[in-house]
Amino acid sequence: MNSAELIRLYMDFFVSKGHSVIRGASLIPQEDSTILFTPAGMQPLVPYLLGERHPAGKRLVNVQKCIRTGDIEEIGDSTHLTFFEMLGNWSLGDYFKREAIEWSFEFLTGGEWLGFDPEKLHVTVFAGNDKVPPDEEAASVWESVGVPRDRIYFKGMEHNWWGPTGVVGPCGPDTEMFIDTGAPSCGPGCSPGCGCGKYFEIWNDVFMEYEKTRDGGYVPLAQKNVDTGMGVERTVAMLNGYGSVFEIARFRPLFRFLEDRVGKPTDDSSLRSMRIVADHIRTAVHILGDDQGIPPSNLDRGYVLRRLIRLAVRHGRKLGITEPFTRELAEVVIDVESGGHPDLAGNAEFVLSELGMEEEKFGATLKSGLKEFEKMLPNLLKNPRRVIPGRLAFKLYDTYGFPVEFTVELAKEHGLTVDMEGYAKSLEKHRELSRKGSEGKFRGGLADNSEMVTRLHTATHLLHQALREVLGNHVAQKGSNVTAQRLRFDFSHPRPMTEEEIRRVEQIVNEVIRANLPVTWEEMLLEEALESGAIGLFRNRYGDRVKVYSIGDFSREICGGPHVTGTGELGRFRIVSEKSSSRNVRRIKAILE
Ligand code: ALA
Repeated sequence: MNSAELIRLYMDFFVSKGHSVIRGASLIPQEDSTILFTPAGMQPLVPYLLGERHPAGKRLVNVQKCIRTGDIEEIGDSTHLTFFEMLGNWSLGDYFKREAIEWSFEFLTGGEWLGFDPEKLHVTVFAGNDKVPPDEEAASVWESVGVPRDRIYFKGMEHNWWGPTGVVGPCGPDTEMFIDTGAPSCGPGCSPGCGCGKYFEIWNDVFMEYEKTRDGGYVPLAQKNVDTGMGVERTVAMLNGYGSVFEIARFRPLFRFLEDRVGKPTDDSSLRSMRIVADHIRTAVHILGDDQGIPPSNLDRGYVLRRLIRLAVRHGRKLGITEPFTRELAEVVIDVESGGHPDLAGNAEFVLSELGMEEEKFGATLKSGLKEFEKMLPNLLKNPRRVIPGRLAFKLYDTYGFPVEFTVELAKEHGLTVDMEGYAKSLEKHRELSRKGSEGKFRGGLADNSEMVTRLHTATHLLHQALREVLGNHVAQKGSNVTAQRLRFDFSHPRPMTEEEIRRVEQIVNEVIRANLPVTWEEMLLEEALESGAIGLFRNRYGDRVKVYSIGDFSREICGGPHVTGTGELGRFRIVSEKSSSRNVRRIKAILE
C-alpha cells in the first residue's frame, strides 16, 4: 500500500463513520504566529477546539502536511522526518474515548482496512499523576476490543499527555498506538516509547478533556474533543514491513538520484547523510512550494529553511557530491509529491530558483569559513598541544556554517586535532537554547490564542478595509501574522505610503473602534461570499462553505476567526512601521494601546 492509497482508505473509513472531509491548511500558519510551521493537524483547528462552530460539522477528517524541526539534529534515524503528512479524525464535542478507540482498532486491524495483525498492536495510555487520575477508561476500551492488559502500557505525562505543559489551555491524556516490528528487545525496560525502535509509533488519539488553569490545576472542559494524528509515512512503512520511513515509495526516487551520483551507502554514517539530504530537500521543497511559501532568510521561518538547505548541501558534500545538486533533486521531489500537493508543481519555478541561489550562497559561505580557518592557523600551530579549542571549532560552525567534520579534516592536514569534547559542549548549550525556543513556540499554540491576539486579529480586518479606502481596491492581503504584542500585515501596493496616508488609515480604524461596531459572522458558500463582496486571503474552493465575518457594514471578510464581539474592545490603534516586504508588497506593523 502506498501513501495515496492509505490516505484514500482513511478518508473512506471515517466518512463511513459520519465524518466530513476538510482540506488541509498551509504549512505556514496564516493567523497563528506563535508557531513557525504547522506542526500537527490540530493546529489550524484550534479555534474549533476552543468552541467555535466548524462549518463542516462536529466530525471532521483530513490529511495535513506538517513540519517539526525541534529535533532537526536527530534526523537520519528510521522514524523521524522534518516534513510528514498527518491523517486526523476530529470530534468537536461529539464522540469521545469509546468511539475513537474502537474506530482506531477497527481501521488498524480490519480486513478491508489496514489489516495489521492485532497481536502486533501495543498501546500506551496515561498513567495519571497527583492531579489527574490514570486513564482507566481508555485502557478498558482497549481491553474490550481485544488488546490484552500486557500490551497496554501506562505512561506518564512526558509520553501520554498532549497540550500546553507550562501555561493555561485545553489539554488531555492520549493513547498512542505502536506496531511491534519484531526487532529484538533492548532490555528489561523495552516498551513502546523507549526509543530503541522495536515499537514503531503510528497513531495518537488525544482526548482533550481538561483545561489547565493558572493555579496549575486541571478542570474538566465543557467541550470535550478528540484530536488524532496518524503518520502517513510511518504507517506506510509498517504496512509494507519496512524497517524505516525512508524505504517507502515516495523516497525511493530520491535515493535513486543520490545513489546514481555517489553509489549505495557503505556505512551508517553515509546512510544517515543520504537520509538527511532526502528529508531536508523534501521539506525545503514543501516550504518553498506551499501556496504561502517563503524564501530562505535569516529570520524565523526563513532561517529554518536556510538551515535545512545548508544541512542538506553539507551532507551532500560529505557523501562526495561536489557539484550543485539541490535543484535537480528538488525536481525529483516535485515529480513524486505533486500528485498529492498540486501547489508544488504550480510554484516549481520559485522552488528551483531559490534552492539554486541558496546552494550557491552556501558555497561562498564555506569558502569564507575556509579563509577564517586559514587566518586562525598560524596561532593554532603555535599551540604546543596542537589542539583546536572546541569553542573555535564551534564558532566556525555557528558563524560560518563550517561543518566540524571539515574542520577535523583540515586540522588533520596540518597535524592538528580538534577538542571534540569542548565542541560538543558548545553545541549542546546552543541546542538546548534552540530547542527551548522551538518547543515554546510549538506547545504555546493553544494557550497563546489569547485575548490580545484575538483583538489584534480583529484590528487586522479593520486595517485591511481602511487601506482599501485610503489607497484603493488594488490592496489585497498577502500575509498576516499576529503575536500578543503586535499585528503584521502584508498587502499589495506598488509604493511606500505617505505619512498622510498612514495617519488617515489610523484615523479610520480608530473611528470604527470608537463606533463600537458589532462583529458578527455567518456561514455561506464561497461563491456567495465573494458575490457579497467579502474580501480576504482564503484557500477555499468553489462549493466550500466558509465563514464570513462582518464588522458593522464597514468590513466583510472570509476568515476562520476568532474575533472580538464589538470593536469597542480594541483600544487605540497605532501603526508603528510601514516598509517594503517584497516587490509591490508593503508590510505594516501595528499595535493596540
Ligand atoms: N495532535 C496529536 C499529535 O500530533 C494527535 O500527535
